[in-house]
Amino acid sequence: MTETINQTATYPIHHTVLKNWVHQIADLCKPDHIHWCDGSQDEYNEMCERLVRKGTFIKLNEEKRPNSYACFSDPSDVARVEDRTFICSRKKEDAGPTNNWVDPKEMKQTLSKLLDGCMQGRTMYVIPFSMGPIGSDIAHIGIEITDSEYVVANMHLMTRVGNKVIDALGAKGEFVKCVHTNGAPLLPGQADTKWPCNPTTKYIVHYPEERSIVSYGSGYGGNALLGKKCFALRIATVMAQEEGWLAEHMLILGVESPDKEKTYVAAAFPSACGKTNFAMLIPPKEIDGWKVTTVGDDIAWIKPGKDGKLYAINPEFGYFGVAPGTNNKSNPNAMKTIAKNTIFTNVAITDDGDVWWEGMTKEAPKNLTDWRGHRWDPAAGKPAAHPNARFTAPASQCPSIDSEWENPNGVPISAFIFGGRRSNTIPLIYQAHNWNYGVYLAATMGSEMTAAAFGEIGKVRRDPFAMLPFCGYHMGDYFNHWLQFGRDIPNPPRIFGVNWFRKDENGNFLWPGFGDNMRVLRWIVEKVRGKSNAVESPIGWMPHFEDIDWSGLDFTKQQFDQIMHIDREQWKTELHSHAELFGRMYDKLPKEFIFMRELLLSSLWRSPEKWSVEPEVD
Ligand code: GTP
Ligand code: SPV
Ligand code: MN
Repeated sequence: MTETINQTATYPIHHTVLKNWVHQIADLCKPDHIHWCDGSQDEYNEMCERLVRKGTFIKLNEEKRPNSYACFSDPSDVARVEDRTFICSRKKEDAGPTNNWVDPKEMKQTLSKLLDGCMQGRTMYVIPFSMGPIGSDIAHIGIEITDSEYVVANMHLMTRVGNKVIDALGAKGEFVKCVHTNGAPLLPGQADTKWPCNPTTKYIVHYPEERSIVSYGSGYGGNALLGKKCFALRIATVMAQEEGWLAEHMLILGVESPDKEKTYVAAAFPSACGKTNFAMLIPPKEIDGWKVTTVGDDIAWIKPGKDGKLYAINPEFGYFGVAPGTNNKSNPNAMKTIAKNTIFTNVAITDDGDVWWEGMTKEAPKNLTDWRGHRWDPAAGKPAAHPNARFTAPASQCPSIDSEWENPNGVPISAFIFGGRRSNTIPLIYQAHNWNYGVYLAATMGSEMTAAAFGEIGKVRRDPFAMLPFCGYHMGDYFNHWLQFGRDIPNPPRIFGVNWFRKDENGNFLWPGFGDNMRVLRWIVEKVRGKSNAVESPIGWMPHFEDIDWSGLDFTKQQFDQIMHIDREQWKTELHSHAELFGRMYDKLPKEFIFMRELLLSSLWRSPEKWSVEPEVD
């Protein structure tokens, strides 16, 4: 491979605005070279080779993990940085109380100083990418400029990149401007580091009115792969509000029953709360003839069709999934997806050149290299893989990939599911009475924080729609958008709440989870089809014990009761915390929410102190 780099695009670019913008960024960032990405396999291979030469990538054992690489990030750069993420709308009130805001003029001054010369000694890559199948009415195009080969390689797997996107863009097509730099220029003679980043200064900045993004100082995941959270969620939520669609932190899956009827559902769980696992679920063999297929595992773009139904696409092309906990029992489809052509970040490496992480096998292999690049000492009590270690793999390699996953028209959505990580209060499964109450349920969702972002792990925080770090505008306006959205369609999808994470008083999970979540999913799908029974609880519709398929699982009525019970004291605390959330965004809060909270309170008050699905009859 040569080190020669295209100074200009060899592929004809007819888009003047694009060309001018690229030159303007190059003038500011002052890279040594410019490389327009064509999206070819050769280009991907060359990026990987450059990263190997720099010491960033470690080529894994070709027999065990063909065409795959591992890398370790800087220990200061391991997750999204929510406190360094900004929505710089012109008006502060448009960003709302849950986003960091700085006046865009001021932010641009700060950033132009930081960007000045930030790519010295490096190559500036221009990556044309499409979020969604190229040419789909639901898809949108972005251009990411970056000085990171790691980003180029990952974008090749996570999005559709290259000349075909330039073609789709034509001379005047719209695109989202994305600028990324590690913020680590190389002065003449200065040696590079394996994971260039800026250890002290990080900015993940969105200008919603301009539809543009600037990311400075971090090379990790959602901070740097700008198609994902920055574009497909923060910028896209703003576009969606204006244009009447939804951009959501949701997986999309298909459920096929033995009679071959197919139902698609979308589910929102916060970061590292089980979207990938749920999207690739394999039903227990006793649930005969039922099949789950995967459309997406992280983001859904949903637009109303002419027939009044909602159609969803997965705007991504690959998975950037949490590695720890993934194994042949918890997620066999993910294990097969990452068998080859995969990039691993912050996992541990075995002495025969394969990967390992906590939970992959019961016993750790001997002689591991940990994610810091050191010989791992099991006795030291630190994990070998970082808790937010991730794999990047092509979606097409997933054995359960849905036949329609690249359908430009999307798949029709019949139900929405919302679920946080809650050790108490929230039952395994319940259904909202109607759309508005479903929106309330989603808006007031809480979850214990995970390692996917910097923060206090385990603490419960309100995470409306699993979108707290991802909504590009005022959360109150976002709730109103959802309410209005439901009014505008004739037969909106049903809305459900789930909680796989409830624990007993000893801290053990009450629910087996993973494949057994199919039992809940089956009830949901049959409920949507009008075939499941339910009982009305103080917080919504719930299955009786008999309404769930238990074949192959020893789960008693008592256990079911425990995981479904509604404890008035715990719910008082819960509703108190809803009020706190509402207080934070009172200016734009849908007034319906106040009444719905009252209704919930009074319905809890009228019910037994510990409400049970199966009341004992005396
Ligand atoms: P992001 O990619 O961060 O948006 O997250 P995700 O929602 O795709 O997370 P992922 O599926 O990778 O979640 C991984 C974590 O959820 C691991 O800690 C799993 O062990 C846990 N998990 C997933 N499904 C279940 C389940 O059914 N029960 C329990 N108890 N844990 C689960
Ligand atoms: C999340 O944190 O929700 C992710 C990973 O999906 S990242 O892309 O890094 O945001
Ligand atoms: Mn996510």
